[in-house]
Amino acid sequence: MSSVSIPVRLSGVTKRYGDIVAVDYLDLEVKCGEVLGLLGPNGSGKSTTIKMILGLVKPDSGFVDVFGMNVQEHPVEVKRLIGYVPESPRIYEFLTGLEFLDLIGDIYGLPLKEKRERILKYLRALGLEGREGDLISSYSRGMKQKIIIISALIHRPKLLLLDEPLTGLDPRSARIVKDLIRELASEGVTVILSTHVLEIAEAMCDRIAIMFEGRLLAIGTMEELRRTAEMPSSDLEDIFLKLTGEEDIKPIIEALLK
Ligand SMILES: Nc1ncnc2c1ncn2[C@@H]1O[C@H](COP(=O)(O)OP(=O)(O)OP(=O)(O)O)[C@@H](O)[C@H]1O
Ligand SMILES: [Mg+2]
Repeated sequence: MSSVSIPVRLSGVTKRYGDIVAVDYLDLEVKCGEVLGLLGPNGSGKSTTIKMILGLVKPDSGFVDVFGMNVQEHPVEVKRLIGYVPESPRIYEFLTGLEFLDLIGDIYGLPLKEKRERILKYLRALGLEGREGDLISSYSRGMKQKIIIISALIHRPKLLLLDEPLTGLDPRSARIVKDLIRELASEGVTVILSTHVLEIAEAMCDRIAIMFEGRLLAIGTMEELRRTAEMPSSDLEDIFLKLTGEEDIKPIIEALLK
């Protein structure tokens, strides 16, 4: 397969913060049109990995390629192809929802008519129609998250990097976003999605990557993970806990109750 047709390739990628190895010699290849779930305990390197794919964080060593382009050498071209939902979004609270989305659409150079049509379509789908003229500072947490999600989608990216995207969304909106992500993937959009909600990963992802202390513990379909963990009929929670060595939860609870 030519490297241009591989949406994301990490080769021997390492990122350190002082003594902490956030990502430890990571190799990862993501296929076109797949939804890859990125799982792992707090601090295991998921967000750092996502930021390196986007080019926000520079690896200490190794290479990150997006559609065959080195991310450090082609920072703007790569960002044009990506939609990003950060785990802690920074959003201009003093703009209205519509002004913010207009600004994002302009940054991506969308023609006016197309931009407005897409923004309104998304606002309507996520139940924000009628509130687009209000200041973002007056929005609830979930409403702000919806604006961030819309801002990641309006330029029709070929690669979506979603860091805990469903945080704060009500069940109906979460369902709409989940179905939309799957639909986009079936049209060839590649998705990397980090989540702690294992049911979401199990239901949505073609493959699941489990990170632990900056390394990849396992990657594969649910069937492949079951084989890796030697747990033929288990769900993702049991597999996750086994692979990440957190099965001794009972003694922890007992110690806390003493
Ligand atoms: N800017 C930074 N400065 C110092 N250390 C950092 C920085 N960013 C991340 N780290 C460290 O790198 C490690 C990996 O962090 P990262 O945010 O990638 O984890 P994560 O898997 O996304 O965790 P979570 O599930 O809590 O979101 C952690 O030990 C974290 O403290
Ligand atoms: Mg994170």
